[in-house]
Amino acid sequence: MNIKLIETELDAVTADVNVVFMKKDELESYEHAVILQKAGFKAEQDTTCFLYEKGVLVCGVESKKSDDIRSACSCAMKTLKTSNFKSAKIAILSKSVISALVDGVVLGGYEFNDYKSEPKKAALEEVFLVSNDLDFTKVEEIFANSLIIANATNFTRDIVNKAPQEINPQTLSLVASNLAKENNLECAILQEDDLAKEKMGAMLAVGRASVHGSTLIHLSYKPQNPKKVITLVGKGLTYDSGGLSLKQPTSMVTMKMDKAGACAVLGILKAVSELKLDVEVHGFIGAVENMVGGNAYKPDDVLISRSKTTIEVRNTDAEGRLVLADVLDYAQDKVAADYIFDFATLTGACMIALGQYTTGLMGHSHKLKHDISRAGSDAGEMISSLPFNRHLKKLLKSEIADISNTASKPYGGAITAGMFLDKFIKEENKNKWMHFDIAGTAYTETAWDCNVYGGTGAGVRLMCEFLREIK
Ligand code: BES
Ligand code: ZN
Ligand code: ZN
Repeated sequence: MNIKLIETELDAVTADVNVVFMKKDELESYEHAVILQKAGFKAEQDTTCFLYEKGVLVCGVESKKSDDIRSACSCAMKTLKTSNFKSAKIAILSKSVISALVDGVVLGGYEFNDYKSEPKKAALEEVFLVSNDLDFTKVEEIFANSLIIANATNFTRDIVNKAPQEINPQTLSLVASNLAKENNLECAILQEDDLAKEKMGAMLAVGRASVHGSTLIHLSYKPQNPKKVITLVGKGLTYDSGGLSLKQPTSMVTMKMDKAGACAVLGILKAVSELKLDVEVHGFIGAVENMVGGNAYKPDDVLISRSKTTIEVRNTDAEGRLVLADVLDYAQDKVAADYIFDFATLTGACMIALGQYTTGLMGHSHKLKHDISRAGSDAGEMISSLPFNRHLKKLLKSEIADISNTASKPYGGAITAGMFLDKFIKEENKNKWMHFDIAGTAYTETAWDCNVYGGTGAGVRLMCEFLREIK
């Protein structure tokens, strides 16, 4: 399916279907009001009414603001894909909704068919966004940038959705090095013997029972005179069985998505390099598989991390923080960054705290939290801050090591996980670091907003927006 921008009057464009966004208060004066009324259409947000004979798809919206348009446009795509129409046109109502429309079409129209022996073939071939805005150069620029970001989000989704027999730490490294080749990025991959030389005792322990060697992937995008240097760190658990603290069967299903932080980092690097942003971006990924076996790491083990901090393992299912501890430490030694952001499907507790639709944001700098939240709402991703506090920090105390990998009480589990990571952030970087817990937002089994079943690409749009705004 193709999306095209056309500069002309809407009536001048020939398409099988015209997609119309309609508020409740516009119903009465609409030319086909009588039919809509007969159909019982009330213009509720995310409901559609297909007037087949008129070639019109009416989509209810609460307002004509971006968030409502993005969601309604995604619903339109779902309806269109089940029809036999080949083309659709949508009028661009204002400059501010171009990117919401692109998201609606490209993200809402996404499907993952790699494993279907007979993939559904939608008839829909082309969607035209039509604008007669005088400032068409600006419209074109917004359209092109939005398309790059939406495609990068789908790139992230594709990797998240791939099955764990296909994506393991080694093959994820290949995906990264292919991206590096295509987008002219630098790429270094550390194998287990390199990780041993780096004394990454925490990360290596997590991957020990896997038949696939763990890797640390370092990708970098280096423009000539960057305004800022950014480090991104991604949790790349290509499968999280829980290890010896084995997950319940029902909780284990979907754990191929535990690599979503890493996939988001790859998507962001793809977008940033295609947008040719004036910022230097480093992506560090800890690619590991958490499995069981005779050589598996155990609850009661004490690990010596790269930073020399010793960690008592009390639950092998709290593995993401162990991998990130070493990768964060390595990344801080390798690159003197202005900002350090990590993305991780870190805790079920984050979902309990915020729900499935909101990413948890943790860190020390109020200013940075504020700027990131702004970028999130501009990009259409919901983010909420989960505040650290000294009482929760005490729950990570260990009797025999420097820190325990699990808190002694389950309440506030997303925050205690964030505070565990904080232990590995160097003093001079405290205000440069933010942790994104995307456990709830990275994957969905029911469609919502512009997300369909599977990986959502959480983090990509919000980080691209933040990086685009850097002065
Ligand atoms: N990958 C999981 C977190 C997760 C859970 C992500 C559900 C997405 C959906 C993580 O490694 C994990 O298992 N965390 C434990 C931590 C606990 C043992 C302290 C959890 O959340 O239960
Ligand atoms: Zn786990
Ligand atoms: Zn995990």
